[in-house]
Amino acid sequence: MPSSHPVLCGSIAGRPGRFGVAMHNAAYQAMGLDFVYVAFGTEDTAAAVAAMRALGIRGLGVTMPHKQRIMAYLDRIDQTARAIGAVNTVVNDDGVLTGYNVDWVGAVRAFREKTDLSGKAAAVIGAGGGARAIVYGLVDAGARVTVFNRTASLGAALAASLGVTYAGPPDVLPAAGPFDLIAHATPVGLGGGDDTLVPEAALMPGTVVFDAVPVPVETALLRAAEARGCLTIPGVRMQLHQAAYQFALYTGREPDLTVMESALQAALRRDSRP
Ligand SMILES: NC(=O)c1ccc[n+]([C@@H]2O[C@H](COP(=O)([O-])OP(=O)(O)OC[C@H]3O[C@@H](n4cnc5c(N)ncnc54)[C@H](OP(=O)(O)O)[C@@H]3O)[C@@H](O)[C@H]2O)c1
Repeated sequence: MPSSHPVLCGSIAGRPGRFGVAMHNAAYQAMGLDFVYVAFGTEDTAAAVAAMRALGIRGLGVTMPHKQRIMAYLDRIDQTARAIGAVNTVVNDDGVLTGYNVDWVGAVRAFREKTDLSGKAAAVIGAGGGARAIVYGLVDAGARVTVFNRTASLGAALAASLGVTYAGPPDVLPAAGPFDLIAHATPVGLGGGDDTLVPEAALMPGTVVFDAVPVPVETALLRAAEARGCLTIPGVRMQLHQAAYQFALYTGREPDLTVMESALQAALRRDSRP
């Protein structure tokens, strides 16, 4: 290493996004690092991993549909990614590919901007990969977690595997509370609209409400939460913090978070233009 000039990092996804490109490249430039970041769109996990080895790509962010299936092609899986059951970051150290999961780090750092987590009562809605990483992070930070999910068997399985409680579908949330923190992690609200799974009665003044949905930044859930005096955290904060953590894994340096944040805001403005 390096196997290319500049050193190549990037991401693989069925549908490549632009936020990672904006954040990572802005931080490389601000720090004068000879690195470049490219978002690759591919459905072929095996070929993408082979390309990483052949070209000496230093780091790759991994999103759908690759998060679980990439695990079979790597040399090592870090303990946390194994516990979460998904990899969202691969680091290439002289040809040895290690899979990490940093979704949970992004979530916990985003929550800590608004609240301490130790001993707090947290509700997590959803039982997919995003919810699983969030539950893992909250448990690691010392929160008491209750899971809510439409399909009981999936919610109960997630809760049991991470040692927390499953309480039912999202509409029973007010009766199961109160909660200091509510984290929504389903695709409901993605792309806009007025749908939300969180009943208004669960939104109390001072409750911290996180919506993992990244776009729009202000979802129907966050609008309702703000109207009821909650503290809100948009999903893009999780993306920002996980990008910063990935940057450190790839370069060995801590990025300037304000540079990454400005680049993310600019990308969001470009994205929302008609
Ligand atoms: N901000 C970030 O950095 C970040 C990172 C990861 C994920 N995310 C976001 O988190 C969300 C979930 O992602 P994921 O990868 O975990 O997705 P996923 O694996 O597809 O999760 C699906 C979950 O959503 C539930 N669900 C889907 N549609 C529903 C509906 N109409 N009503 C009730 N529940 C519904 C499913 O319930 P059933 O079990 O009943 O089917 C399941 O629990 C997405 O919006 C994604 O963009 C954000």
